[in-house]
Amino acid sequence: MTLCTVLKNPNDQLRTKAKKVPVAQIKSPDTQQLIDDLIETMIVQNGVGIAATQIGSDKRVIIVDVHGIMPLVNPEIVSKSLSKIEFEEGCLSVPGVTGIVKRHRSIKLKAHDRNGKPLTIKAKGLLSIVLQHETDHLDGILFIDKVIRYTNPPRM
Ligand code: NI
Repeated sequence: MTLCTVLKNPNDQLRTKAKKVPVAQIKSPDTQQLIDDLIETMIVQNGVGIAATQIGSDKRVIIVDVHGIMPLVNPEIVSKSLSKIEFEEGCLSVPGVTGIVKRHRSIKLKAHDRNGKPLTIKAKGLLSIVLQHETDHLDGILFIDKVIRYTNPPRM
């Protein structure tokens, strides 16, 4: 495994839209290596989630670690509650900054696991928030784009 550098905002790569991984490529050594690198990097950085975009990969892969480490390939939010919750977020790519973000209280997400098996996840609470935050990364969106109030503002 390789410990990767997490890209820091501002960075053009953090603003790119990642590409779907063809299902046949999920078990390829490249994708498996990417998943292992993301897991190691997330653990070392004490994150509860990480997206491939943050280490400069253009693949739609995220890891979340809320109820255990869960790698997700091609995550797609297929339904979301109208009800929203406010939660304080931070991001490995925006170090030292935290703020309140309003997100959907619960979501349904489809993805593939690291073996290529399709999954459907119904998430609420912290898992729902982390999944929305990480999926946003794959579309070039950072939590600071959605923050309604900073708790630790960026230094000017
Ligand atoms: Ni983040």
